[in-house]
Amino acid sequence: MEVERVQAIASLSKSQDTIPAEYIRSENEQPAITTLHGVVLEVPVIDLGAGSGDVVEQITEAAKTWGIFQIVNHGIPDEVIAKLQQVGKEFFEVVPQEEKELIAKLPGSDSIEGYGTRLQKEVDGKKGWVDHLFHRVWPPPAINYRFWPKNPPSYREANEVYANKLHGVADKMFECLSEGLGLEPNAVKDALGGEDLIYLMKINYYPPCPRPDLALGVVAHTDMSSITILVPNEVQGLQVFKDDYWYDVKYIPNALIVHIGDQIEILSNGIYKSVYHRTTVNKEKTRMSWPVFLEPTPDQEIGPILELINEANPPKFKTKKYKDYVYSKLAETEMPPELVRQYT
Ligand code: SIN
Ligand code: FE2
Repeated sequence: MEVERVQAIASLSKSQDTIPAEYIRSENEQPAITTLHGVVLEVPVIDLGAGSGDVVEQITEAAKTWGIFQIVNHGIPDEVIAKLQQVGKEFFEVVPQEEKELIAKLPGSDSIEGYGTRLQKEVDGKKGWVDHLFHRVWPPPAINYRFWPKNPPSYREANEVYANKLHGVADKMFECLSEGLGLEPNAVKDALGGEDLIYLMKINYYPPCPRPDLALGVVAHTDMSSITILVPNEVQGLQVFKDDYWYDVKYIPNALIVHIGDQIEILSNGIYKSVYHRTTVNKEKTRMSWPVFLEPTPDQEIGPILELINEANPPKFKTKKYKDYVYSKLAETEMPPELVRQYT
């Protein structure tokens, strides 16, 4: 059976003032009602070019209080980011639909990789206004090129160049997070499985939506990953929950957005916080984003780092294999496995 893509629904609803009922969120989720308008939240912006002592302090403070920050002067050239965005946009907008479907996520498969749209509705019977593509980009042995677009032809190179550069940024983040806990620089990365850590690329494609006041792109969640490093396009849409309201996060050209995910909250024994976030959509413009989830391998055991535990600081989390963590989050939220897996 042909899966209905949001991109197709969007082009049909273009000149209308309504959207299908399954995209209309309940009132406690509708962006028009729940967003604090007129205020753009300035999550910490950290300049990595500035001299490292300071950077450790700023990153750890942001990871403790916000669970999210933006980094600038991160060392990834603007052209590398522009190229990543260009090839992703071409895949969604220029490559014919039949060709996109050739790399669709395989129904019933355990793997999350491939082009897709959520098949199931979310718990409240609603759907997000978004299509996506998932594929691993690092380390090389974890890559399955079957799920990488063949077109545009430069897709592969653009993603490989970005992944290589991103590896350096990720290592820097893990070092800072380790030092902020008073640990050796390699402590956090080692606790996550070191070089086995899997970099999972996702492209979110949010087409224009006639009723951005009623729909959501991605529903509120925390990422299950260790950290997520994200490139957005210029269309506003990321929101963070703070003090009972949802706030827009300011767009900064060429900045990278770093989310603290659940695994860092766990291994820091709650010192760092994973951020609760969601995305809105736009009436006229297409929003896109390129999060890369840094995920432990399924059998990697993650729990509070032992040096952080003592009588005054008992463990706040159980030690679990990453795959078991994924399944317990699933049980908590009563979502079908495939769906929860997408909330990375
Ligand atoms: C997500 O959290 O999955 C999406 C974030 C974004 O599109 O900015
Ligand atoms: Fe997320």
